[in-house]
Amino acid sequence: MLKKIAIVCLLACSQFVFAQKKPAPGPAYKNAKLTINQRIADLLHRMTLEEKAGQLNQLNGGVFTGPAVNDANQQAKVQMVRESKVGSFLNVTGVKETRNIQKVAVEETRLGIPILFAFDVIHGYKTIFPIPLAEACSWDLPQIEKNASVAAREAAAAGLHWTFAPMCDISNDPRWGRVMEGAGEDTWYGEKVAAARVKGLQGDLDDANHVLACVKHYAAYGLSEAGREYGNVDVSRSALWNKYLPPYKAAVDAGAATVMNSFNLVDGVPATANKYLVDDVLKKKWNFKGLVVSDWGSFGEIVTHGYAEDGKDATRKALEAGSMMDMESKLIIQYLPQLVKEGKLTMKQVDEAVSRVLYYKFKLGLFEDPYRFSDEARESASLFTTANRTEALKAARSSMVLLKNDANALPLKKQLGKIALIGHYAKSKEDMFDFWIANGKADEAVSVLEGLQSKFGASKITFAEGYNADATTNEKLISDAVSAASGADAIVVVIGLSGKLSGEERSLANLNIAEGQVQVLKALQKTGKPVIALINSGRPLVLTQVKDLTNAILQCWILGTETGNAVADVLAGDYNPSGKTVMSFPYAVGQIPVYYNHINTGRPTPEKRDGPFTSRYRDIPNAPLYPFGFGLSYTTFEYANLNCGKTVTKQTQLPVSITVKNTGAYDGEEVVQLYIRDMTASIVRPVKELKGFRKIFLKAGETKTVDFVLTPKDLSFFDGEGNVKLETGKFKVFVGGDSKNTVEASFELK
Ligand code: GLC
Repeated sequence: MLKKIAIVCLLACSQFVFAQKKPAPGPAYKNAKLTINQRIADLLHRMTLEEKAGQLNQLNGGVFTGPAVNDANQQAKVQMVRESKVGSFLNVTGVKETRNIQKVAVEETRLGIPILFAFDVIHGYKTIFPIPLAEACSWDLPQIEKNASVAAREAAAAGLHWTFAPMCDISNDPRWGRVMEGAGEDTWYGEKVAAARVKGLQGDLDDANHVLACVKHYAAYGLSEAGREYGNVDVSRSALWNKYLPPYKAAVDAGAATVMNSFNLVDGVPATANKYLVDDVLKKKWNFKGLVVSDWGSFGEIVTHGYAEDGKDATRKALEAGSMMDMESKLIIQYLPQLVKEGKLTMKQVDEAVSRVLYYKFKLGLFEDPYRFSDEARESASLFTTANRTEALKAARSSMVLLKNDANALPLKKQLGKIALIGHYAKSKEDMFDFWIANGKADEAVSVLEGLQSKFGASKITFAEGYNADATTNEKLISDAVSAASGADAIVVVIGLSGKLSGEERSLANLNIAEGQVQVLKALQKTGKPVIALINSGRPLVLTQVKDLTNAILQCWILGTETGNAVADVLAGDYNPSGKTVMSFPYAVGQIPVYYNHINTGRPTPEKRDGPFTSRYRDIPNAPLYPFGFGLSYTTFEYANLNCGKTVTKQTQLPVSITVKNTGAYDGEEVVQLYIRDMTASIVRPVKELKGFRKIFLKAGETKTVDFVLTPKDLSFFDGEGNVKLETGKFKVFVGGDSKNTVEASFELK
């Protein structure tokens, strides 16, 4: 009996002890053993309508430590966090700031839902890479992906979870300051670059070294009328599907977590409230399961556009269309509970949106460790490292495009006597950076002057300002430049635009080189010394006059932290330029939009433009000064033996091959480009469409055969409803080193 009692006591004690050890079960949403969807379901069930509205509210942040703590505005935002009225901040950066706010969200709110921190890491966080338009000119997709992964690693180490990149807007209009943010004028290449950037930024999102990507600006914002920022867009459905939508879809297919509405209209409806764009296409046709965030204030702009009577009406229309998070309009937080209570929005619609915000907070592990991205040791060890700067240098070197090089003015021989370096931008570091400098510091960058001094030796470089910061000049500046040139063997002059005129809200109607800079060029040309122009700009400028005043032109774009070292490597021939422009350079502003993949029109103008009553200008050529895909090397390449099958069917592929020979004295890289033309179709097709490229390396004298395969997808297009069309008929295929100088053959799709 005693034994039995002892056993019963033992069992009771063990159960008691066991019961003591097993913690009380916390709420299911905090249980990492459950699936994310199970945790979301539990959390939604616990949330009030006001708390749900809070998750869809994204505010601009700033700093919340130090003196800012006393700032009434900032205090009000902190209070909103305490009241669970903020789901995300943008522009709060750095471990200290993000941790400070995250602590309030996690420890001082009822449910402890963490905040998502977002920032415009467009081309680097601290180590600044070339602008996206420049890196796209490298045609080096692995490097483009690497650039994005370095930027993501730095951003993630600085407490950030989300960047508003890649921008996937196709644009033919360099008057628009934001062409710097995209991948140029070609849709097919834009798709490839978009996917590479998403992969680089996001990885598989589970190592705290990557961030949520954001596909923007959805959709067709690059068509902004007359290149004016925030302008209107009027686009046909066939152009929308064939030219503008594919890069957004490529980014979505690459797994992009978020999409950002654009400011513009499509079909007369603001993108943020556009059910066709957001619900029919993005969510239903493309099966996008991620988060849609508005652009800054674009919920409110639905009223300004004239599509809603007031903020409440705008909120309803935006959410009904399928948009979800409100950046800085503060309308969701104000009207959503009311709209649901009045039956104008359903809780299902609200839960659908909130669940997508919560999904990424769970996915990033922020419920397990809200400070997973906020480690100060990791932050200082990850930013601006030698390895990161090495990648930035590689990216900068391969982004530059050599547009002209008469009589091999470049590369500069290292045994040169003196080099005259002229131009305010050669020394001014702040002018080397664009609007999206993120947390980069201009004074940490290498200027062109510093780069040349370290490459050639400071004693060999004579610098003269040439023109002022505002690009004006005067007799003194010009005479100083000429005297610097008089003692030199070669003249390098940096002209173009300050980087500060590149980026959002930087539209320009005049793209000519500033008069002051032209005056300096003219004076330098008179010296009879070779003049090499370096163009600092975030967009193609009109270089028609520059072309006649110089021996060589190197388009440097905006190259970021390693500008000076990259430029020096190219000028000295330590790197043979391999870039090919991804945007056409207009002959004149009046030509814009000018792009390679245009339609033929019913009256195409022959090359020599002498045809009366054809589609031409009487005062300038139709062709751009430099076409899409163009870029010189220090060597030359010859294309021959284009070989392609004569017929292909809808079920087969068409092999295409060509031989490329390096016929010059330098080893070099060449971007071999493959274009097609569909001669007859139910929707007229462009005279050329890029459908493939290979970036190859050839030693001097070496020949390689380059192979391509054209697939049925390459030969298809979309109708106005986004249905894929593949139609039999005649095609042409073109291969060459740019979109103009190509060899061609024909084949038939049967
Ligand atoms: C801006 C831009 C958008 C950016 C956002 C946040 O207005 O249009 O590209 O990501 O606001 O800064």
